Amino acid sequence: MEILITGGAGYIGSHVVKQLGENTEHNLTVLDSLVTGFRESVLYGDFIEADLSNFDEIEGIFKAKKFDAVIHFAASLIVPESVTNPLKYYLNNTANTANLIRLCVKYGVNNFVFSSTAAVYGEPDISKMPITEESPTAPINPYGMSKLMSETVLKDASKAHDDFNYIALRYFNVAGASLDGKIGQSTKDATHLIKVAAETALGKRDKMYIFGDDYPTPDGTCIRDYIHVEDLADAHLKALDYLVEKRESNIFNCGYGHGFSVKEVIDTMREVTGVDFKAEITERREGDPAVLIAGNEKIKRELGWSPKYDDLALICKTAYEWEKKI
Ligand SMILES: NC(=O)c1ccc[n+]([C@@H]2O[C@H](COP(=O)([O-])OP(=O)(O)OC[C@H]3O[C@@H](n4cnc5c(N)ncnc54)[C@H](O)[C@@H]3O)[C@@H](O)[C@H]2O)c1
Repeated sequence: MEILITGGAGYIGSHVVKQLGENTEHNLTVLDSLVTGFRESVLYGDFIEADLSNFDEIEGIFKAKKFDAVIHFAASLIVPESVTNPLKYYLNNTANTANLIRLCVKYGVNNFVFSSTAAVYGEPDISKMPITEESPTAPINPYGMSKLMSETVLKDASKAHDDFNYIALRYFNVAGASLDGKIGQSTKDATHLIKVAAETALGKRDKMYIFGDDYPTPDGTCIRDYIHVEDLADAHLKALDYLVEKRESNIFNCGYGHGFSVKEVIDTMREVTGVDFKAEITERREGDPAVLIAGNEKIKRELGWSPKYDDLALICKTAYEWEKKI
């Protein structure tokens, strides 16, 4: 297949490009503006530096090559920024996605894999864990809403255009780096817990913060479902196969179905690195749900996805090894 991958120079996209390059015969075209991505993370395929907001340029790419599928990672994803600058999120995440879908419909590109997020669920009740795909969607910030709106555009477009199908993968907390150490998360000023802990273990930060220790969880800190980026990448390959074989749209949570607290993550990072770095308790952040855990029965059953790296120590170790290199 001829596949267009937007945002393929970013953290998750580059891991999917790597797996597609290593395990499939597909021809890959990676499109990225490099606003937060890195050219050197793209290990396979043709690379085009372009911004999705340049509609004419993007249409030119669709005219020049007949794609069979699009995997769409490109987005803005800093939750607090989405609150202060919502238009950036609605334009980059929703409007640019709607335009990309328009081009897919116009040029007969019928398979679309979309990077969605647990943020579409908002702040679910702790008694309602794990979250299933049927759980109510109720985003509490423009980032989550911009992604849910994109899912809505996909749903309506697929209803109106019989041949056009999509899979939305709702990622929970993505972490770790490729096991061979070739790529990892290079995001500048990242706020992701495991990356921040790796940076602190390496002395890139003097200390890190724990945002609240009075949540209704066993140790008082928030619990999240951390998924290794290689397992998440594999879900994309399976989503493509599903689209081609079944020609049906669907939505899947991506997570392991259990979680770890902030304190447990920090302790694990200390254990695997042997560094007793400083973590200071501070105020809660607004809009942090106490617990987010993915129900993953559906993706296991319908995509045949079977995680290989459900191991917090391995996730921390690969993140740390990558952090050492950059
Ligand atoms: N990292 C996570 O834990 C997480 C969780 C849930 C969902 N997601 C989603 O996964 C996707 C990838 O996230 P990531 O962590 O790899 O982030 P990232 O910032 O590393 O990757 C995003 C990529 O998109 C590119 N990009 C952004 N806007 C663009 C535009 N207008 N035109 C062209 N390229 C553009 C960036 O340069 C970057 O390479 C995003 O859609 C994000 O919302 C990520």
